[in-house]
Formats: sequence, structure tokens, C-alpha cells
Amino acid sequence: MKTDELREKYLDFYVSKGHTLCESDVLVPTWDKSVLFTPAGMNPFKDHFLGNVELEYTKATSCQKCLRTGDIENVGRTAYHHTFFEMLGNFSFGDYFKREAIHWAWEFLTEKKWLGINPDQLTVTVYLDDDEAAGIWENDIGLTTDRIQRLDEYENFWPAGAPTDGPDGVCGPCSEIFYHPQGIGKGKDVEIWNLVFTQFNRSGDPPDNLSPLPSKNIDTGMGLERIAATLQGVETNFHIDTLKTVVDAAAEITGINYEYESDNGRFLRRISDHIRACTFAIHENVYPGSSKAEYVVRRLLRRCTLEGKQLGHEEPFLYQLVPAVIQSMARPYPELADTSERVQQVIKKEENDFLNQLDTGLVRIEKIFDSMKSGNRTEVNGDEAAELYQTYGIPPELVESIAKDRKCSFDWDGFKAAMDQHSLISGKLATTVMGDSGPIDEIKKESKSTVFLGYETCESESTVVGLATGKQRMQSLDKESQDQQDGSEHVIVLDQTPFYGESGGQVGDTGVIEGPNGKFVVTDVQKNGDIFVHIGSISEGSIAQGDSVQAIVDPDRRDAIRRAHTATHILHYSLQQTLGKHAQQRGSKVTDDWLRFDFSNLEAVSAENLTTIENMTRDLVEQGSAVTAETIPLDEAKSRGAMMLFGEKYPNPVRMVSIGEFSKELCGGIHLTNSAQVGGFEIVTEESASSGTRRIVALTGGKAEALKAATGQAVSQLCKHLNISDSKIIDAFDQLAAQVKELKKRIETGDSRQSAVTSVTGGEAVDYSQQRAIIRTLAGKMNVASSDVAARVESMLAERDKLTAKADSMSTADRIDADGLIGLAETVDGVQVIVHNLPASNPNMMRQLIDQVRKKTNPVALFLATKAGEDKVVLVAGVSNDLVERGIRAGDWVKEIAPIVGGGGGGKPDLAQAGGKLPDKIDEALAAAKEFLTAKATS
Ligand code: SER
Repeated sequence: MKTDELREKYLDFYVSKGHTLCESDVLVPTWDKSVLFTPAGMNPFKDHFLGNVELEYTKATSCQKCLRTGDIENVGRTAYHHTFFEMLGNFSFGDYFKREAIHWAWEFLTEKKWLGINPDQLTVTVYLDDDEAAGIWENDIGLTTDRIQRLDEYENFWPAGAPTDGPDGVCGPCSEIFYHPQGIGKGKDVEIWNLVFTQFNRSGDPPDNLSPLPSKNIDTGMGLERIAATLQGVETNFHIDTLKTVVDAAAEITGINYEYESDNGRFLRRISDHIRACTFAIHENVYPGSSKAEYVVRRLLRRCTLEGKQLGHEEPFLYQLVPAVIQSMARPYPELADTSERVQQVIKKEENDFLNQLDTGLVRIEKIFDSMKSGNRTEVNGDEAAELYQTYGIPPELVESIAKDRKCSFDWDGFKAAMDQHSLISGKLATTVMGDSGPIDEIKKESKSTVFLGYETCESESTVVGLATGKQRMQSLDKESQDQQDGSEHVIVLDQTPFYGESGGQVGDTGVIEGPNGKFVVTDVQKNGDIFVHIGSISEGSIAQGDSVQAIVDPDRRDAIRRAHTATHILHYSLQQTLGKHAQQRGSKVTDDWLRFDFSNLEAVSAENLTTIENMTRDLVEQGSAVTAETIPLDEAKSRGAMMLFGEKYPNPVRMVSIGEFSKELCGGIHLTNSAQVGGFEIVTEESASSGTRRIVALTGGKAEALKAATGQAVSQLCKHLNISDSKIIDAFDQLAAQVKELKKRIETGDSRQSAVTSVTGGEAVDYSQQRAIIRTLAGKMNVASSDVAARVESMLAERDKLTAKADSMSTADRIDADGLIGLAETVDGVQVIVHNLPASNPNMMRQLIDQVRKKTNPVALFLATKAGEDKVVLVAGVSNDLVERGIRAGDWVKEIAPIVGGGGGGKPDLAQAGGKLPDKIDEALAAAKEFLTAKATS
């Protein structure tokens, strides 16, 4: 049976048993902080299991995209391990329980109409004292007791070992079904299905820590690849129809002959798995990066790249496997095809980046082995291995095998300890998913959901249904006791609220909640499941459970947030129009008249494109299109062309926000009623957010107007300072920058010649968008914020004037040349001694002068000083070689004199230099210098 058919059969079967068919949830549930990737079919239903939401259905079935990293090292080595896999599941939320779960599982596996597996090849396990499940298998299904094994909590409880080790929360015994390919008692068996009977709430340590749940649940999980391998009679999941095509493509692209039992076979299976996982993750906009889910993607890709390199692949190759993955998964996940190109680009870039740094990583390995050798150490320690893994992505197995080659060992325990410190989370976290704790969960259980009124109004009459301070549920909050608390968070939950809870990038509202006896200032609102949690503090009196209150959102801030949110949608449209469809939203933050928008794009957006995007957004704002929101079935939204973001979880029905005819986004946020209300729109910055992702920050409404005014002001300031009109600003700036550069060079080299200055003049006024482009270009050239451009140019002008004065002073009459210096010499015992204060000089010029003098005459000893800036002195001394031979050294000379000007220094016997900070003491220093040399020459 083909894998696609199997998946469909399973879902059909459970739909025929009254289950609601749920589409796979996303692979990366960014809203669930307890996991990096969806690790099991039940995860998307955790609020259903905990009774935290109103149940629209009590029986569900799904085929869920999952990713686990706990056993990553086994992938490719064993027959059944994967990172990415699909899990078939059926779920009951307080509906059916053990009997139906067992009957249906058996029917699906053994009936001819469904899988038709020979029942004689199946055995089961149950939890030690789960007589109920054992009884059903024995009496209803008719299994003999030798086919029903009873195992402990580490084998037959979910989460494994929960009664003893936790976590707290819902849990239960499970029953697993095993398939025996060669018959019972012969060969290996394969676990194919796990039926979890979620019937307890665990609280604290044993004994007596399991209390029965009021409503019992069912959570079953069957790995699709494994049951497909079973039915297709193949020795490994990698040989099922879907995965085998990827393995074959990998063999073809790498030019390796696929053999099951060889290192190459393991390598090809590993890359098939990893590329499948990465294709799905990147499709959902999780790009390779340095932390959390992104790090996992990076690690998977690098592992393959490195192994590829060892096999001689110096160029990226993995990305070429993406089409094979997409094709093999085309039936259940046709949407993968939409992002094929983007996914390939991202993978290719990561391969390239890693290949470029891999050589450095291999050098680091050599350094580690060198230091082990010199320290007489024979073990690669954990920290070193973790660094190689984390910094260079070099897997520990490789380090271990290199160590073995060199008769060294590898500290796995140390490596694991070092890795545990890292934020990378393995499959372990998945078990905390069912935990529930804290006052918010308690409130959530009672009131399930907050009615949200904020689309229509900024004010409501509401009732307080819950209050808490820190981890404590409260009956009331009052100012006095709050003032005694040390920074705990105070929260209020209402039955209905006009306050928007942070979501979809839009920040929570602020405002006040006024009760009969007091007032609560709301500084933030967060959503927790379906309830809205108002965070803030009591400003007067008290508020208590059950109080009737007025909930009032700050209307001005709300309006400013709406402007920014509607502008975000328009910007998204302009980006896609200008850069292409790939420029999809990757994240956003929308607050009052300020927005940050991250989108996929491998390169920086050019200044020209940025101007186009900004102008297009402004035009669309000005067009004054109606902004409307409607709640419609998800399928209808899709067919009407709503923009769907991959990796985003959409409810059904879904809220679609349209702006005119051009923008349709699925969005729960609060918007304007007409695009013209956005007012101004100004892009402030465009920069990198992370690899493959760019970030735009923009302003709307009053903030945009202020920036616009500032831009106009900056332009007129620049015109005034540079003495030109708008259109010549950039030319004049370039000229200024060139002048400053040239002046610095002249001063440095002591070149007194002045180059001809072509001065920029004239120009004409330009429109606002060109003014913005001018400021942005200058900001880019100087690497400063737009708001700093005018001030920076002003300081460059001041610098130019100062440098000009300095350069001019160098070229004035009192400049002295080598002959001039020789003219100043005093002869002491046959040695010409020249001691002189140069008016405007620098170390370079001073050394050159000394060289010139030494070429012209000897024996000669020179000591030059100059004042360099307000509080700096430079001293340079030089002696001819015959003096060095007589023991007269420039280094000694400088060392002796420098302290007088508050400094120190030294150098070679024939030339030495020192700095000081007391220009007033130059004369004193020179007198001492003369004395020093006279004494030396005559001694
Ligand atoms: N949650 C259980 C598992 O992951 C059954 O779906 O095995």
C-alpha cells in the first residue's frame, strides 16, 4: 500500500467513526514556548486535553508533521529513526475511552477493508496494573494472555515514567501494538501504534500523586513511515515509496551508489531525512540560524554538508534534493511547491557559508590536537568538542573518529554536559507539554474565554472574573498591599474586554480599568489561550473578583496602532510588488505609529527599490481605499486570494482584512476604516534581521510627519552649509569627503602642495521623495542614522576647516628643510648637533628630515620636537651610524628626555621616537637634549 493511500485510509477510517478531520498543524508552533517543533500528533490539541477551550468537537483525527531531535544521531543508522516524520492520530476529549480506542485500532489494522494485517502477527503491551485495558484485549479482541505483556511506567505510560519522575499534569497508561514481520517469536518486532489513555492528573511526588481526571481522554500515535514500511514489507522506513525516491535522488546527485549496509548507505539515508526536515522547516520560514529551531535546521544542514565534503563535495549539493522532497510529499502538502525556489536558495546559501568556514573549523581541530599533545593530554574534552560543534558545526562523531585515528579518546559525558548548557532543546521538552500550573491556568479553566469587543469599541462594561499577583490567585488587588510587593506582576481577567491582547505582531492596548472602589492602570495585555490577561497596577483603591468595571482603552494610542497596522499590510503588498512574491512576511511588530516588518529577501534592498516601495505605499495610502474585515471560512479566504503565510496557524473560520482590491491578509489585528487615515508613511531603516531576512522600520501618522519635517529641515541645513541647492547635495558631500581625505594625506606625508579644488555650486530644489533619497544616501555613505546626517556634515565641514589651517601652516615660510637644519648645527667635539622645534609637523615628516640630513652630512645628531594638537608632543631623535658605533644612541637620548614632556618612548639606536603631553615644556626638553648630547660627545 502506498504511503499516500495509507494516510488517507487512516483519516477516512476515523472520520467514519465520527471524528473531525483536522489538518496537520504547523511544524514550528512559535506560540508554544515549551517545544521547538511539534513533537507529536497530540500537541496541537493540548488545550483541548486540558479543558482550556470550548470544545467544538470531542473526537478528532489528524496526520501531523512532526520533528524530533532527541535521537538525531541514530538517523540513518537505524531502520526507523527520523527527525521529520508524520504521525497519524485519533483523539478523544472526554468522549470515548479505552474500549473504543482498542476496538477501532484493531479493526483498522486487521480488517481487509482497511489494512488487512494478519492478526496472528500482532501482540500488545499494557501498563502493569491496567487490568481494564488487558481485559479488553483479552475478552473483547480475543488475544491470548501470552500476547498481552504488562510493562512498567517507563515502557507503558505517557509521558514515560510520569508517575515517578513527572512532569505534573495530565498523563496516563498506554497500550502499544507490535507487529512481528516473521511471525510471533521469530525475528524482530516493530512497535507500530501507541494508544495513550489519558486518565490522571499528576501532582507532586508519589505516592498518591495521581488523581483521576473528571474527563478522560484518548491520544493515539502511529508513525506513518513505520506502518508504511510494515505494509510494504521493506527493511527500513527509508525504503517506503515516498522516502525511497528521495534516497535515490540523493544517490544520483552525489554520484554515490546506494547500498543498504554501508557507510554510504547510512549517509544517503541521513541526508534524505535531514533535507526533508529542512525543506519543511524552511518552507515554514524557519531559516538556519544560531538559536532554537533555527539552530536545529543549521545543525542538520551542516552535518550533511560536512559529510558531503568528506566524500569530496566541495560545492553545495543538498539544495538540489529539494524538488525530490517536494515531489514525494506533493499529495498531502502541495503548498511546498510554492516555496521550492526560496527553500533551495536558503539551503544553498547555508551550504556555501558553511563550506567557506569549514576550513577554519578543520584548522581549529588541528590546534586542539596540538595543544593536547603539548599538554600531554589524550582526551578531547567536552568544552572543546562543544565549541567545535557549536561554532563550526562540526559533529562530535567526526571529532571522535579523528581522535581515534590519533590514538586519543573523546569525552562524551563532558560533551553532553557542555551541550546541555546550550539553549538547544532536544525532544525532552515535549513531555512538559501537558503541564498546567499557576493562577492563569486556574482562571482559564473557569472562564475559558474572554469576549473581545475591541473591533467595535474602546470602552466596555465588564465583570472581573480573575485576579492574580505573581503566582498567587487573588480575591482582590489593592494599592496598599501592592505597594508592599516587590515587582510582582498584577493581572486582571475580565469576562469581556475592548483591550487588544498582543498577537499577530500588534502590541497589547493600554488604558484603565475602573471599578466601584478603585482603578487599575493597564500597561500591557497578553493573550493566554482564549483569555485576555490585563497587566498593570492599581493606581488607587482596590478591585475585586466579581466587580463591575469600566474597561477603557487609551483611544489615541489605539488609533496610532491602527495606522501602523494598516500601513504594515500596504507595505507588505508594495514589497511583494517590487521585490517579488518571495518577499513574504517573517515577523512584525506594530505599535503606535511605528512598525517593524521582517521579510524574506537574501540581499539588502537597493536605495532605488526602497524609494519605489516607499512611494508605492504612500500612493496606496493616499488613494483612500476602504479597509474592511470579514470572518469567512478558511477555504473561501484561500480561494479569494488571501495571502497565506506558511508556518502560520489560521483558525477556521478566519478573519480576512482587505484594503481596496489589492491587499487581502488573514489577520486578527485592528485596522483603520480607510487607508488614507494612515497619514504619513516614512521608512526609517532597512537592514538585516538574520540570514535571508531583511527588516524595515517605518513610521506612520504624526511620527511620520515629524520625520518628514526633519528631513526638509536637514536638506535646507545641508544646502546652507554646503552653499548649494538640493540636487547638488550629494555631489557637494562627495567633494567634501574627498577634500577631508586629501587634507589628511597631505598632513600625514608633509606634502605642502595644494591640489586644485573643483568646487560644486548651483543645483535646484527637488521634491520630497528625492529629498528623502538624498538623506538616505548620505546616511548610508556615512553609516549614520538619517536624523544625524546634517549634524555629521556640519562636523565634517568644521574638520575640513581645521585640517586646512593645519596644512596651510605646514606650507608657510617657517617650514624648514634639511639644509636649513644643517645651518642650525652646533659642532661639539667634531659632532654636528641639531636640536630644533618644528612649528607644524608630524612623525613622518620628522623622520624624513632626519634621513635627509644624515645623507648630507656626518657625524650628526638630531633631536626634533613638534607640538601635535593641543596637548600632544612628538619627539624624534636620530644619529648617524658612526655615532652609534661610538655608543651614542638615539634610543637612550629620547628615553632620557621624553619624561620632561610627560611621556616616554624609544626605538632603534639610530632612530627613536617618543610622545608626550606637555607642549609647554618643549623648550626645556630641547635644552636638556642639547646638554645630554654635549656630555656624550665630549665624554
Ligand atoms: N503522544 C503519544 C506519542 O507521542 C501518542 O500519540 O507517542
